[in-house]
Amino acid sequence: MIRLGVNIDHVATVRQARGVDYPDPVAAAAMVEMAGADGIVMHLREDRRHMQDHDLAILRKTVKSRLNLEMAANDEIIAIALDACPDMVTLVPERRQELTTEGGLDVKAGFQKLASMTKKMHAKGIFVSMFIDPDEKAITLSKDLGSDAVELHTGRYCDAKTAEERKREFKRIQKGVEIGLKLGLGVNAGHGLNYFNVRPIAAIPGIEELNIGHSIIARAIFVGLDRAVCDMKDLILEAEAS
Ligand code: PXP
Repeated sequence: MIRLGVNIDHVATVRQARGVDYPDPVAAAAMVEMAGADGIVMHLREDRRHMQDHDLAILRKTVKSRLNLEMAANDEIIAIALDACPDMVTLVPERRQELTTEGGLDVKAGFQKLASMTKKMHAKGIFVSMFIDPDEKAITLSKDLGSDAVELHTGRYCDAKTAEERKREFKRIQKGVEIGLKLGLGVNAGHGLNYFNVRPIAAIPGIEELNIGHSIIARAIFVGLDRAVCDMKDLILEAEAS
């Protein structure tokens, strides 16, 4: 069964917009888990634009499912991750000006750093995943550097302007899943997925986990977090079974 990891960063985005202490992403995580999510995802950015260090510390103690920390391979954040010991880390590229994570990791350029960081994470029993474009080279390099899994970036598929482009991007993801599985990697996917575009991705055999944030938190404004998570989970499981 495909797992749904819910990224709760945007609960913190609303909190930080006013510099107050609500809404609390820790409370959101508990509700998300009760609604049936299989994991909680949070990104501790270098600029701390949404989630804060204390969120990670508390979530580490309260998350009952699986805590997946998205992070850049930055020394400060690596030290925090090694100390917090989440169940899993997903390495992402980070640029200060970006609205959200814009592209996959450059695994080639960062190979040495990512490999040494992966070793350190493994020494602490932390599962490691690389957020990469669905590209054969990047998948193979992720395996070579010791990663346990890859998360294939679905942003281009989600942002496609034409049916033809979407089909092309979908095929790249499908192929990426096959390559990852052949190499013995866990294969996850995410970014930009919403209630209208998630089905074909969830129907790809072999994907272990989808990580979804913005669309779920956005829908929760209208229908509540419980319903927003349940609706997404239902869509994913229906697509997987089809
Ligand atoms: N996966 C990764 C690696 C991400 O960086 C993000 C965005 O934080 C997501 C999944 C979730 O993307 P979205 O908020 O578009 O669902």
